[in-house]
Amino acid sequence: MYKAKEDESGQYRWAQDEAMRMKNYEEGLSRNFRRFRYDQFTSQTGGASTTFEIKHHGKRFFPSKGGWKTNTSGAFRLVKADRLYGVGKTLSYKRFFDDFASVAVDSLWTDTRISGFSDPKFYVVQTGVSVIQRCILMATDPGDLVLDPTCGSGTTAYVAEQWGRRWITIDTSRVALALARARIMGARYSYYLLADSRDGQEKEAEITRTVPSSQPSRGDIRQGFVYERVPHITLKSIANNSEIDVIWEKFQEKLEPLRLRLNSEVGRVKGEMKDKEGQSTKFPSSPFPLQTSLAEWEIPREFPSNWPIEAKPLHEQFWSERVARQKAIDASIGAKAEFEYLYDKPYEDRKKVRVAGPFTVESLSPHRVLAVGADDELLDTTMEPKGSYGEERDFTAMILENLKTAGVQQAHKEDKITFTSLTPWPGDLVCAEGRYEEKSEVGRVKSEKKEGGSADFHSSPFTLQTSEKRAAIFVGPEFGTVSRPDLVQAAREAGDAGFDVLIACAFNYDAHSSEFDKLGRIPVLKARMNADLHMADDLKNTGKGNLFVIFGEPDIDIIKAADDQIQVKVNGVDVFDPNSGEVRSDSAEGIACWFIDTDYNEESFFVRHAYFLGSGDPYKALKTTLKAEINEEAWATLNSDTSRPFDKPETGRIAVKVINHLGDEVMKVFRV
Ligand SMILES: C[S@@+](CC[C@H](N)C(=O)[O-])C[C@H]1O[C@@H](n2cnc3c(N)ncnc32)[C@H](O)[C@@H]1O
Repeated sequence: MYKAKEDESGQYRWAQDEAMRMKNYEEGLSRNFRRFRYDQFTSQTGGASTTFEIKHHGKRFFPSKGGWKTNTSGAFRLVKADRLYGVGKTLSYKRFFDDFASVAVDSLWTDTRISGFSDPKFYVVQTGVSVIQRCILMATDPGDLVLDPTCGSGTTAYVAEQWGRRWITIDTSRVALALARARIMGARYSYYLLADSRDGQEKEAEITRTVPSSQPSRGDIRQGFVYERVPHITLKSIANNSEIDVIWEKFQEKLEPLRLRLNSEVGRVKGEMKDKEGQSTKFPSSPFPLQTSLAEWEIPREFPSNWPIEAKPLHEQFWSERVARQKAIDASIGAKAEFEYLYDKPYEDRKKVRVAGPFTVESLSPHRVLAVGADDELLDTTMEPKGSYGEERDFTAMILENLKTAGVQQAHKEDKITFTSLTPWPGDLVCAEGRYEEKSEVGRVKSEKKEGGSADFHSSPFTLQTSEKRAAIFVGPEFGTVSRPDLVQAAREAGDAGFDVLIACAFNYDAHSSEFDKLGRIPVLKARMNADLHMADDLKNTGKGNLFVIFGEPDIDIIKAADDQIQVKVNGVDVFDPNSGEVRSDSAEGIACWFIDTDYNEESFFVRHAYFLGSGDPYKALKTTLKAEINEEAWATLNSDTSRPFDKPETGRIAVKVINHLGDEVMKVFRV
């Protein structure tokens, strides 16, 4: 891994612009000069091949100790590339800052310090993202599995998800898991270009200036991403670059005649001046001692004021070719240099937004152990008195306390079930009796019935009559799922004890229980408990928040379509009306989204069709959340209560899952 290089000790004091004008760095700063320093050109160990005399810019140099860092042909190339510079007796190597503008990350990670504003804080002992990111990037590749047994707010999982690593994380604290779950679910990540994808292959070709790979791509994340890279130009890579000789020779064909003509132009004028003044050695304003010929390196960058003006075009032409040669050589150096991958800088597809892949939160009950008998047979301990299971009873008591304060919510506020009393009940599965008042508008019923009869009711058409109803309460396990047989047994118990309705409260119901909503005369209401109840000890029991929510059965029609296909239409959900004790059908407006598994295998629900309802401007919310533009036309096909037609499945079963605005879901399986 590399980080950006800083010139902390200010060694890169010199600078040069594109047209080879030199400055010291401070002067050149404002004009984007390339900064450089003079570095050692000698090495401690010198052999016969690296110990030789170099004539450079009219001076002779010999390595004082050891030898040069390259052999004769390498040294020639460095001269041609304008990479050597002599001061006094020392010949130095000209190293540009951007030859390698990075440094390898070392063991001092000062750059991962958390600043007050960097990461949003979820947890009091939260680890900084940058520290975990560095560990993951150093130790793993995309597709690897990362394990963090002390999850906390889930920083490891969050970072692993961002970098395409799989993850498992564990914590003993329910608070930590609840925070981590919410953090990962709500995260929004960049989409990195996969090396094993068409887009990735094209990006790679663009960077390396080659033809895109013709390999078929499979989107395998283990092939990694397409990463940014930085050139790593070294003295060795220049010394070994034979293309420099070719470029130099090519330009020499133009530069040498230009140099000769410039010399004769300047020399001729000089000659004339000499004639006039009669004394050639006294040529005071000339920057040169009188000599017949200026070498390439002696031709000044700026046109000297005392040179004959006729020589100016030649001087310009010479420098334009000279600069062109330098650019061609530098480009060759850049292209032939090695480069380093920046594994923390993959290229992004900015048009795509990514959210976390699917994950599950699982837990073990620390209180439940399998009991084994004398012959190794499993014993059913669920019916035994739970004297020693104090904690489990605490859980039920805590749930009942919250249920009493919060009541049971449904899609509409007026359908809320508010208990007037909630008292323990000594059943096997029914653990409490809840009483609530059923209100019915008797006036309306009577008015409808009267039909020209008595006018008594005109003054008071609606009279509220209340009667008390009794609900049997069943509370599911703290960790685990309620299954259909549990519900059947609880409903039977409720019926036997003369209750009016069974209200089950659980974190999860298995798929089969979703179709079970009545046993004889007893409606079975399944209230989903909010995950916040997992940390109820840490919450105030205020009765606020939707802690117990009933989400009714979806009311669904299967419609025959052309070509023996079918379509699914959601009409709404069934709602238990606590005022009448009946189940009525409600509109689809409470539904946030619904999915179809058009080929349900009875084990897992696979989303094959997804539809999003929702009134108002549904994309506005989506747009804000994803910070992205939504294609309205594509969206419109998903914003529907009727599915696209599809073939009947071979399994003969489809499953429809409906989710409300609170995130509660119900699933229904249909034979088609
Ligand atoms: C310092 S925090 C981890 C912080 C985390 N890296 C983050 O970024 O939020 C340590 C976590 O380890 C959990 N923990 C402590 N003992 C544990 C154990 N024996 N098994 C699993 N988790 C444990 C604590 O509940 C706490 O959430």
